[in-house]
Amino acid sequence: MNFKRSDFPSDFEFGVATSAYQIEGHQFGGAGRTHWDTFAATPGNVVRAEHGGIACDHYHRFEADLDLVAHAGLDCYRFSTSWARVLPDGRGTINQEGLDFYDRLTDAMLARGIKPCVTLYHWEMPAALADLGGWRNRDVAKWFADFAEIIMGRIGDRMHSIATINEPWCVSWLSHFVGAHAPGLRDIRAAARAMHHVLLAHGTATQAMRAMGLGNLGAVFNLEWATPADDSDAARQAAAVQDAIYNRFFMGGVFDKAYPALALEGLEPHLPKGWQDDFECIGAPVDWCGINYYTRSLLAQAEGPWPHSQLVPGPLPKTQMGWEIYPQGLYDLLVRAARDYTGDLPLFVTENGMANADIAQAGAVQDDIRIDYINQHIAAVQRAIADGAPVQGYFLWSLLDNYEWSLGYEKRFGLVHVDFETLERVPKASFKALRQALRR
Ligand code: NOJ
Repeated sequence: MNFKRSDFPSDFEFGVATSAYQIEGHQFGGAGRTHWDTFAATPGNVVRAEHGGIACDHYHRFEADLDLVAHAGLDCYRFSTSWARVLPDGRGTINQEGLDFYDRLTDAMLARGIKPCVTLYHWEMPAALADLGGWRNRDVAKWFADFAEIIMGRIGDRMHSIATINEPWCVSWLSHFVGAHAPGLRDIRAAARAMHHVLLAHGTATQAMRAMGLGNLGAVFNLEWATPADDSDAARQAAAVQDAIYNRFFMGGVFDKAYPALALEGLEPHLPKGWQDDFECIGAPVDWCGINYYTRSLLAQAEGPWPHSQLVPGPLPKTQMGWEIYPQGLYDLLVRAARDYTGDLPLFVTENGMANADIAQAGAVQDDIRIDYINQHIAAVQRAIADGAPVQGYFLWSLLDNYEWSLGYEKRFGLVHVDFETLERVPKASFKALRQALRR
């Protein structure tokens, strides 16, 4: 890597991120079914119908995995808690084994000097609650806050930071309008309701955890720099609408207590009655803001109903996901977040990384392209800090190759290679380079 730890303030935090369903192995330990199990079992949704049943078997191998985090010299480990592992039906009966697992995981981090950074929800809705409408049902806010109280009642005393819901755009729009993630709906009314309820759930849980005396509470957004595909007014308009739906709706809700007019143009008729009265809750104060960043998007006008926009492929080099490598977007979004929404509030890059078709040969993986990607994005973070964005940490996605949702196990985001037959872990060249950088 061409940076070193001493290039950053001494309290700047480096970490890696993972999520429960993507690594744990959901079939272990008495976890209830989730809407991702349903989605994956429905033909056509997921590559090779792969699911998180075993995943990286982190449930049994977490000690060795945390040894890797410590060995890399990282300060923090961002993990998530599976709602259905703790509450198999989403509410009611508690699975003690599930609570015990997160308790042991937390203590294993602390024993290695790693700071636990938890995300309460990273996408696996208990199937029993999905049956009741999941994110479309306003009651989800209460169900989620109850879950937050139960899990934080057990491990909250030892958390370094707490995030509510990972990537509200993915939870709502990608899953209820695009249909690419569970529950796989393509329905604008469902999407609008999910968009509002996901923020309401964030606010309700934030208030509940604040009342428990917990601190360092945050919100995590996935942002993409929406770029007009050409210099026509039509493309500019398409990009502005995309920006409103993707980025500004969620940050606006939490930090402005308002939704952007460009998003309301299409969404307002579908929002739940009385949505305007929920902003005191949605905008409950947070202590930090997380930004997950991977790429930009290029937008052109499209025929048909609102939002009248379509994604078009861009000219830049792409990752295994087909996503353009565009570090400038991270700089632009960090600077804009501070300017337009968060002011002096600490910002964290809670995810950044790339998928690559890595191959392990003789116990080694030469992923120079990932080293380059990380270098370029770290440099963007440094420029953002120099220009006044109060960025206090940077987390890589991900520690391990893992379950990349509807794209299955083929897309490899890890600093550590996983053989999904043997489950053997092999640290990649990027892992070793990061370790060197953090020791310097
Ligand atoms: C965002 C999500 O938080 C994570 O679950 C996913 O694997 C990565 N991005 C890569 O797509």
